[in-house]
Amino acid sequence: MPHRGGQTHFGYQAVPLAEKQGRVDNVFRSVARRYDLMNDLMSGGLHRAWKDALVTAVNPPKNAREFAVLDLAGGTGDVAFRIARGGGPGTHITVCDINPDMLAVGQERASQSGLDRVVTFEQGNAEELPYPDRSFDCVTIAFGIRNVPRIEQALAQVHRVLKLGGRFLCLEFSSVDVPGLDALYELYSFQVIPRIGNAVTGDREAYQYLVESIRKFPKPKLFAAMLETAGFRRVSFTPMTGGVVALHSGWRL
Ligand SMILES: C[S@@+](CC[C@H](N)C(=O)[O-])C[C@H]1O[C@@H](n2cnc3c(N)ncnc32)[C@H](O)[C@@H]1O
Repeated sequence: MPHRGGQTHFGYQAVPLAEKQGRVDNVFRSVARRYDLMNDLMSGGLHRAWKDALVTAVNPPKNAREFAVLDLAGGTGDVAFRIARGGGPGTHITVCDINPDMLAVGQERASQSGLDRVVTFEQGNAEELPYPDRSFDCVTIAFGIRNVPRIEQALAQVHRVLKLGGRFLCLEFSSVDVPGLDALYELYSFQVIPRIGNAVTGDREAYQYLVESIRKFPKPKLFAAMLETAGFRRVSFTPMTGGVVALHSGWRL
């Protein structure tokens, strides 16, 4: 969360606001090629179920009705491909991410799986989206918002690019509140994940940042209030897996 004096956090480290994005970009440049494998290893495959719940909420039309989705901070396209497979011929997904290395992996996957007409990859910053007002029926962001330095600014941009009646869905790590599970989760996050990260990507620091940034992200009620401040209506959230993640929802009405 931004602090007075233009400071914020990169994981647990206090850093100038202007420095955070560069550090985040280094993390994802370093792990891009192993990013999807790491998600499977770290979550024991659970990220697939969380993303499927997101796609169910997106509910892309099965028919030819035009449905434009923006998958923000969409990285290697995992969420976009799932939406593409769930939708009909009118569904199109734009993956927008700031990191060219993550996008390059996604673009290759789209070509290999024949989804390159349905999913388009574009470089852009969530804080200054390169799209006109009211362009999308739905905006999704999975495990992305906590990496953005100015979260309020990104939420205002999402609201701006949504059509009236459009929905914003945000999947993000949350706070575990099940006694017993919380201690286990803490141990797993700080003792196991950086070690797996080191073994698979050679970058322990990147995964140390990922677990610390999860702890620094606002609690779900506070994040829901941030959505309301950005102008979203009918704001709600659904905790999953004992609060490990939450699916946040808000509408532009
Ligand atoms: C943890 S990954 C999530 C990727 C994908 N959504 C998924 O669930 O597999 C976070 C992504 O956020 C992107 N990101 C970070 N800051 C961003 C910004 N300011 N604007 C757009 N994307 C950003 C990173 O480049 C990275 O690809």
